[in-house]
Amino acid sequence: MNISSLISPNDFIKNYQEKKPLLLKGAVNKENFSWQDANEIFERSDVISDDFKISCQGIVQKSEYVEKFLDIGTIRHRLIKPVVYEYMKKGATIIANKIANEPKVNYFSRKISDLTGRQVVSSAYAAFGSKDSFRCHWDTRDVFAIQLIGRKRWIVYEPSFKDPLFTQQSKDYEKSYPCPEKPYMDFILEAGDVFYLPRGWWHNPLPLNEPTFHLALGTFPAYATDYLSWLMKRIPNFPDARKSLSHWGDDKSTLHSIGKHLDLLLNNEELYRNFQDEFTGAVRVASPLALNILGDPSVSAIPSESRLRLSAHHASGLDNHYLIANGTKINLDERGAQLISQIVEKPGISFSDLLTIFSEEDEEKIEHLIKNLCSQDILELSNS
Ligand SMILES: [Fe+2]
Repeated sequence: MNISSLISPNDFIKNYQEKKPLLLKGAVNKENFSWQDANEIFERSDVISDDFKISCQGIVQKSEYVEKFLDIGTIRHRLIKPVVYEYMKKGATIIANKIANEPKVNYFSRKISDLTGRQVVSSAYAAFGSKDSFRCHWDTRDVFAIQLIGRKRWIVYEPSFKDPLFTQQSKDYEKSYPCPEKPYMDFILEAGDVFYLPRGWWHNPLPLNEPTFHLALGTFPAYATDYLSWLMKRIPNFPDARKSLSHWGDDKSTLHSIGKHLDLLLNNEELYRNFQDEFTGAVRVASPLALNILGDPSVSAIPSESRLRLSAHHASGLDNHYLIANGTKINLDERGAQLISQIVEKPGISFSDLLTIFSEEDEEKIEHLIKNLCSQDILELSNS
């Protein structure tokens, strides 16, 4: 995936993120993805969960295409393949949401996370017919559509209801905020193309009566409403917030006082940082295991060709010499902060290249620090 050579994170965040769509032609090497990969992603999905769906003019009942069986004392579920094939032949779309533990999908997710600095949730869609899987709608998350096999026609319209939240689905709002008549974009997304669509933009991806497989990677930032909900948990500490209410005349001074208190909380930078740190601390990144290096007591050195990345979507506390990754917060000295900055600026930098940058430093101390950060799942160590 050469997204980083087509657009930088700064350019993307400044000019496109939550602002307007972006089409990146040929951003992905389509040769690295085949129908075998697509089949395996659906095969390994949890087919009984609500995250797995077959859509054929509406969502198909799970009991039609999933069977339960006893596998040496363990209840398992599997697809009833003839039923699935028949639905696919009739033009159905097969959908896997919240994909986890799939290296090829994780690879794309990490690239999108590098670009956006946000947590990414992945879905996969496959179809062979010409039926549209959903009618024209808006998504409540920013989405990157990565077309990996075949093509789809995308018709995109400007938002009629800006920045919808999860609870504000287009089907409930389309009468009051109808889709504009004039399309903003109408194009064919081809294998290897990536299309970024901010939440709220109407769209209708149409299959072209040919095989198609695409990933939809949604990004998950903290929203202002999340901050408000977080602050509300602190409100009972304020005495006036615990008062009983009876009549407007009696209560308006109490409510005025609560309003002033809320204003102070909302504009407190330290509280804002605490909220962001808590939000970041709750996020986990699917980093690879490195048992052969970090779990083997006889291995003391990090192989020089090992690649290093931050095990977090962004390094928010780095300016203040701390870092939160995979639920752990660590404080950094000057050298530690410089080291992490290099890895953040060059995700996937090799250990030997990193040592070259800090050539005057004590190599052993750096290796010890890197090993410690990798063991704590703050940095990830990989071969590629
Ligand atoms: Fe959508």
